[in-house]
Amino acid sequence: MADDRPRRVVAGRVEDIAPGSRKIIVPFRGRAGIGVFNVNGAYFALRNLCPHKQGPLCTGRVSGRVVATAPPSTYAPQLELVRDGEIIRCPWHLYEFEIATGRCLVDQKLRVKTFPVAVEGDEVVVYADEADVPPLIPDET
Ligand code: FES
Repeated sequence: MADDRPRRVVAGRVEDIAPGSRKIIVPFRGRAGIGVFNVNGAYFALRNLCPHKQGPLCTGRVSGRVVATAPPSTYAPQLELVRDGEIIRCPWHLYEFEIATGRCLVDQKLRVKTFPVAVEGDEVVVYADEADVPPLIPDET
């Protein structure tokens, strides 16, 4: 019988994942891996597999959202970047996800898997759940 308890995975030392940075780990061989992010001092972990079309989500650009403070017809549009560092944009089709929750901001039906993260001593630890990882796509060769 398979052991489906979360596995304790050390992602790195606290100083290795500074605020605004990320580290992608691959605790389960042959799987997409997990992105560990430091967002303003808080750690979060997302599966490196976009729920849209399975792109490498955690390799995308981390930024914020651009919002308009005036209607788009205004001569001088006033755009503002908000929540900088809290949003990741998938490199394939640019869907945006909230790093803290995994929630997709452009399609409410989509959510990327998140994993619990803890700081234990000077280590950043992810509790990875292999049972939740989708099966590998069969090799067609
Ligand atoms: S695969 Fe990520 S947005 Fe399409």
